[in-house]
Amino acid sequence: MTTRRKIMVTSALPYANGELHLGHLMEQIQTDIWVRFQKLRGHECHYFCADDAHGTAITLKAEEQGISPEQHIDNMHAAHKAVSEGFLIGHDNYYTTHSPENRELAEMIYQRLDANGHIAKRSITQAFDPEKELFLADRYIKGACPKCKTDDQYGDNCEACGATYSPMELINPVSVLTGATPVPKESEHYFFKLPEFADFLKQWTRAGHLQDEVANKVAEWLDADLQEWDISRDAPYFGFEIPGAPGKYFYVWLDAPIGYIASLKNYADQNGIDWQEYWSPDSTAEVHHFIGKDIVNFHALFWPAMLHSAELRTPTKVNVHGFVTVNGKKMSKSRGTFINGQTYLAHLDPEYLRYYFAAKLTNAVDDLDLNLDDFIARVNSDLVGKVVNIASRTAKFIAKAGGEMSAEPADAELWQKFTSAEPAIAEHYEQRNFGKAMREIMALADAANEYIAAAEPWKMAKEEGRKQEVIDVCSQGINMFRAIMTFLKPVTPLLAERAQDFLGETLSWAEPLAYRGGAINKFKPLLQRIEKDKVDAMIEASKEEATPKATGPLADEPICDEIEFGDFAKVDLRVARIAKAAHVEGADKLLQLTLDLGGETRNVFSGIKSAYKPEDLEGRLTVMVANLKPRKMKFGLSEGMVLAAGPGGSEIYLLEPDSGSQPGQRVM
Ligand code: MSP
Ligand code: ZN
Repeated sequence: MTTRRKIMVTSALPYANGELHLGHLMEQIQTDIWVRFQKLRGHECHYFCADDAHGTAITLKAEEQGISPEQHIDNMHAAHKAVSEGFLIGHDNYYTTHSPENRELAEMIYQRLDANGHIAKRSITQAFDPEKELFLADRYIKGACPKCKTDDQYGDNCEACGATYSPMELINPVSVLTGATPVPKESEHYFFKLPEFADFLKQWTRAGHLQDEVANKVAEWLDADLQEWDISRDAPYFGFEIPGAPGKYFYVWLDAPIGYIASLKNYADQNGIDWQEYWSPDSTAEVHHFIGKDIVNFHALFWPAMLHSAELRTPTKVNVHGFVTVNGKKMSKSRGTFINGQTYLAHLDPEYLRYYFAAKLTNAVDDLDLNLDDFIARVNSDLVGKVVNIASRTAKFIAKAGGEMSAEPADAELWQKFTSAEPAIAEHYEQRNFGKAMREIMALADAANEYIAAAEPWKMAKEEGRKQEVIDVCSQGINMFRAIMTFLKPVTPLLAERAQDFLGETLSWAEPLAYRGGAINKFKPLLQRIEKDKVDAMIEASKEEATPKATGPLADEPICDEIEFGDFAKVDLRVARIAKAAHVEGADKLLQLTLDLGGETRNVFSGIKSAYKPEDLEGRLTVMVANLKPRKMKFGLSEGMVLAAGPGGSEIYLLEPDSGSQPGQRVM
């Protein structure tokens, strides 16, 4: 190995208000493969991530569930961590932006921006929900488009005609939260003076930190005028209060990227490392961010400018990827292709997906399609049909011959093919061209299988005097398998572990590959094929999760079987006046009602005590079943029943006819 690099790697911090889906996981898998590759090559590489836990959406989601924002983000943190682990993502630390380290770093960085004259303050007017007493972000306001008049459009742009506007321009705007009409309200906001960094950014974005296509996109923004960035939000807001500015909070996107450093710092403090080794301006460590194409402006403009102003180093690389589609289309809840990580894991092995994503990943910003038929075919043919097959068809002959491999290649030229492919495969990994790496590896697997098929050890094994030849050929097979598993280890770490158990060694790639002889262990099946019905079941489960569960009265109590009109006519319903209502001694559910039917009265015991006070009932009209057979109860005879709806408890709703009806009138 040449020099040992010191590398810090991150994935974007997932919002703490939703589950991780296959889009998030593609990013984490891409990052994890790169990290595992660096570690395997012997570099000092750490992978940090966290939940992005601040903002109004978090508060609203917590309210919806009747829990505190802190409890909500704790729940999500545990859920996210479990899913990431399920996909074998090797975070060195998975933290949260709602942490003391992040508060401290955000305050420190803000104070540096302020001290360096990069913070401006001024009043702005924004839409305010007078009922909830909350400033409304654009997505919390709806109304008719001012251009094309289409109803039900969000506060920033129209889905019908594509117009963009400010939320107060909507026709009949309403707050999505309360239905109230938003009012314009003024308040002081804090801004980061981004335009002052225009020259710095023009240079930085062309200095090799971004993919060319990303740099070109960013250049368009830099050529249009940069705006000052609003970094404050008014209370109530779930986040960090700005030092020296009571009632003003950091906008979630201000402290989110600082969360990368906070996750490192939390780890560093426990492991005797200084976070500044990575972030001081003279650091020789590398910092690599992996993000999706939707958050480039935050990472390629605001973030480097902030770091520059705060006298910290800027990232070595911001690596941007595209979006995951499924079967050629945007992930969709109704099609069952909006697949949560958890749902995938309940049906399928994580390494299938890791391999499939690896096989399709490039270092460009293109979207990546998970085509489910291709997924099944590719994984089964490559991992099971090619890779595992090499070991499964040769291992048994070594075992039969005593378990010792020969130390020299039987076909030196073929082995040479493997050692000479090594640098190119490593370089593809380094450049995040995982797809190219996988193709090279599978080409080697093809060569290995062709060699074994041509040598036919199973035939030789039946022939006298060819024992050594069988061992030599199969040892070559196992060595080719060792090489392939070494190359695949960043992608399929568990498969590699099972292979290591079989080979009796730890596969390392810090040194060039070496052929080896000696003992190996008993071969056990390494990987199952993907079964299509498991994939189908995952899609079905995703569909089901996305369909709102039927709840409510009809679901709880379906409508009864049909009856004839005559059956109904037998029930004699009458308007009755509650002449008297009283508690019943010894009964905790019943009230005793005296019902006036216009001359005649009836005595009825009714189980409505939990919802009504007797004094509130007296004088009211209601509806009773007048011809119900009287029933003897512990407290006396009940002569009919009054009609009420509701599940019980305080939720009992007595029927009441419109005013004007007379006691004794029949109800039909
Ligand atoms: N919280 C911010 C990131 C803050 S980083 C300082 C955020 N969160 S997110 O949960 O919406 O997205 C997290 C990452 O997942 C982003 O990089 C985003 O691009 C990525 N993806 C979300 N959906 C995706 C796909 N369908 N496909 C691929 N990646 C996608 O943005
Ligand atoms: Zn419109």
